[in-house]
Amino acid sequence: MLQLRDSNGPATVIRRADYSAPAFWIDSVHLSFDLDPAKTRVLNKMTLRRNPDVPVQPLRLDGETLNLARVLVNGQGASFKLESGKLVLENLPLEGAFALEIFTTCEPLKNTSLSGLYVSNDSFFTQCEAEGFRRITYFLDRPDVMASYTVTLRADKQKYPVLLSNGNLVASGALEGTGNEGRHFATWVDPHKKPCYLFALVAGQLVCREQRIASRAGKAHLLQVYVRPGDMDKTEHAMNSLIHSVIWDEARFGLPLDLERFMIVATSDFNMGAMENKGLNIFNTKYVLANQSTATDADFSNIESVVGHEYFHNWTGNRITCRDWFQLSLKEGLTVFRDQEFSMDLCLEASARAVKRIEDVRVLRTAQFPEDAGPMAHPVRPDSYIEINNFYTVTIYEKGAEVVRMMQTLVGSLNDPTGRAGFAKGMTLYFARHDGSAVTCDDFAQAIADANPDSALSRLLPRFKRWYSQAGTPRLHAKGSYDAAAQTYTLHLNQTCAATPGQEAKEPFVIPVSLGLVSRSGADLPLQLRDGSASTSASHLLVVTQAEESITFINVAEEPVPSILRGFSAPVLLDFDYSDAQLMTLLAFDPDPFNRWEAGQRLALRCATALIAGEAILTGARPLNDDYVEAMRAVLRHPALDAAFKELVLTLPSETYIAEQLDVVDPQRIHAVREAMRAQLASALATDWQWAFEAHADNGAYRPDSLSAGRRALAGLALTQLCLAAQSSGDPSTGSGQAGVWPGKAYQRFKDADNMTDRLHALSALVNSGHELAKPALAQFHSLFKNEELVLDKWFALQAGSCDRGGQVLPAVRQLLKHPDFNLRNPNRARSVIFSYCSANPGAFHRLDAAGYVFWSERVLELDSINPQVAARLARALDRWSKLAEPYRSSARQAIERVADKANLSNDVREVVSRALAD
Ligand code: PHE
Ligand code: ZN
Repeated sequence: MLQLRDSNGPATVIRRADYSAPAFWIDSVHLSFDLDPAKTRVLNKMTLRRNPDVPVQPLRLDGETLNLARVLVNGQGASFKLESGKLVLENLPLEGAFALEIFTTCEPLKNTSLSGLYVSNDSFFTQCEAEGFRRITYFLDRPDVMASYTVTLRADKQKYPVLLSNGNLVASGALEGTGNEGRHFATWVDPHKKPCYLFALVAGQLVCREQRIASRAGKAHLLQVYVRPGDMDKTEHAMNSLIHSVIWDEARFGLPLDLERFMIVATSDFNMGAMENKGLNIFNTKYVLANQSTATDADFSNIESVVGHEYFHNWTGNRITCRDWFQLSLKEGLTVFRDQEFSMDLCLEASARAVKRIEDVRVLRTAQFPEDAGPMAHPVRPDSYIEINNFYTVTIYEKGAEVVRMMQTLVGSLNDPTGRAGFAKGMTLYFARHDGSAVTCDDFAQAIADANPDSALSRLLPRFKRWYSQAGTPRLHAKGSYDAAAQTYTLHLNQTCAATPGQEAKEPFVIPVSLGLVSRSGADLPLQLRDGSASTSASHLLVVTQAEESITFINVAEEPVPSILRGFSAPVLLDFDYSDAQLMTLLAFDPDPFNRWEAGQRLALRCATALIAGEAILTGARPLNDDYVEAMRAVLRHPALDAAFKELVLTLPSETYIAEQLDVVDPQRIHAVREAMRAQLASALATDWQWAFEAHADNGAYRPDSLSAGRRALAGLALTQLCLAAQSSGDPSTGSGQAGVWPGKAYQRFKDADNMTDRLHALSALVNSGHELAKPALAQFHSLFKNEELVLDKWFALQAGSCDRGGQVLPAVRQLLKHPDFNLRNPNRARSVIFSYCSANPGAFHRLDAAGYVFWSERVLELDSINPQVAARLARALDRWSKLAEPYRSSARQAIERVADKANLSNDVREVVSRALAD
């Protein structure tokens, strides 16, 4: 038998421009697995034929980490070569279909990369996207080769009672004959053709929650959620989310479930969130398992959107898939847009929709904007990559979703101001044209535009598509001028976009800018344009297409405050020289909740940057001015705003977000200033926080709905602030006066809470205020939940992400790595400690002594030999090193060089660190 190892040659750059159609098509695949953790045998029988559109050439099949035993062509032994991992067959029949049979083995137990076939908790799972199928058998591992699959699984019945694959179960039973004692089999047929990245199998000891539903057309479907025995009491929410998803896609887009059986299976060992394998979604347990005592409100809401996301892929991704991996955003951007809309549509109150939008934008701006400004910046449709796994990014996902959202906006019309109806028409045309095929981002945009021939999108399509080809976040500079005599208000706009790797100059983007003019008293002013047109709604949609343009409103009775980019109508940076008073007006009154929130963020940011930039000593600093503090009090006490919105407004911009606004980043100074701001808000609003806590602490029987979740969020923030005030107001053990009671109250709440959200908020309030009660609380938390993996992840993450006071976090993190419950091989656990520290705790990570960076480089190298995908994600924690002030900058660079100097790095980590060093 021939042993093949990963080829260790120089990494090759894959370019979009080099795309060529496959030389062969694979019509059908019959796979048989003899599942054994140490050595699984895989028989792959395919029917192939040449692609007549491509010159005659050998067949080159992808393969990795496979042991090859046999190759037969039309039942006969055939000659073959192995060339840099590929199985090459020459002299294949020129005409018609032929049979190719390949027999290989693989070693699931040794597979720590979690790509291909692997073992987790004694069960078998697969992960094939993007290029994991080649670790299971030799194949044309590319998404434009779509085949019909029949899969037979054979395994020990006692160890692996459940045998699952895509599609329908057509046969199962005991295996006969010697050597088959105690073994059984199951055969699955997928009625839909699919690319191999959507193949999946699962085998193990699993139990399932089932639900039968009927579609609008009366078709019956079986929905199943498979988990480990013992986790059944955490499956109700995932099942409900799945049912909601099925109903929503049919109602909003007319897309029904096309399968008799739809299964979700949870595994603890998973690199990503979840995977949309046809009819057999495989999920990270984090996005399936929830009940009130183990999961927070955030977990419940993430489960809803990830279940939705994977389900929506069934049409956007699976029925229509990507021609090549450069088109990844075709399915991911669109599907994120769909899951965002799903979550918003499930909100009962309009205010909850706005809260969801703010949360989504916050992710975009704190994660994607930095990516777009850093060494890994790439267009939504990249031009090249070394390792495709590095391109499952916030740009492809979140910015891609914004691009789709702008398309919806740009197909809007008088009768359809949001563009929802026009966009749904576009989706219908997209499916009419491309169902069952592998297509490009261009095909998608064309379909949306063609279905709306009179729309701005259709008119501007070639220019609009620059959003797909140009990386970088456009910056929109706006200036306003009011002419009191003429009663006109003119807004001048110009756009720029900084250079990104490989793209020096940029063409102007098409930027839909939703605008309103707010009066001094806070009302939307009527909007009239020179050409006589008047907006029927309070907002006007200005579609910016040029580098510079302006718009003039007439009959403007008073100098307005412009509310620009309402609802964050485009993924751009907006510069407008607001006065504090103008921002106060928007914060108090803007009818657009997004810009209302944004005004508060801008005010806070202003106080922060002023102090960061200066030389002032920070001990005891009070960065916030009185007006800001009073405005925050007014929001907190506001009789009409809901709690979730208040919590967002009262939460200061994150350290990461603040850092992005600065040219030179001193992470310690940012941390100190933000902490001073938090402390100031805590003490200045002490009685208001107390009121807020008391008014929102009791929420009756737990339900994860947005209204009560918002109340818990606000109560949690209040408690955190109250504990902070207690700590900063004197004796650390008791605090002084009234304030001193709060840590004790938090501890009591920690013990009494009937749900994980309240319990974790209370614990976090103690840990992050540095109170000594944190210690016993952490110990109790651990002993209460020592058998709940996902809760232990929270326990680790809370400590690794906690507020640094004099450098105590890093030694604590090093200690956590030695904890018996720590396991570097489990991605969730690795993330809970290492990523929480390196990527989510800048104040603790960026140390003057560089010890955080040393820790980072050690962990990147250690992880790389286990799981390159996870290692490469961690490697990105230092993406923004070149913006750092000295001495951080030099020591960060040295740490990256240490990683880059290592021989035998994975392509994954190699690509990330070499791009970082080129910055
Ligand atoms: N396609 C998955 C999703 O977006 C993500 C994923 C990618 C999962 C690669 C595993 C591996 O839902
Ligand atoms: Zn996806």
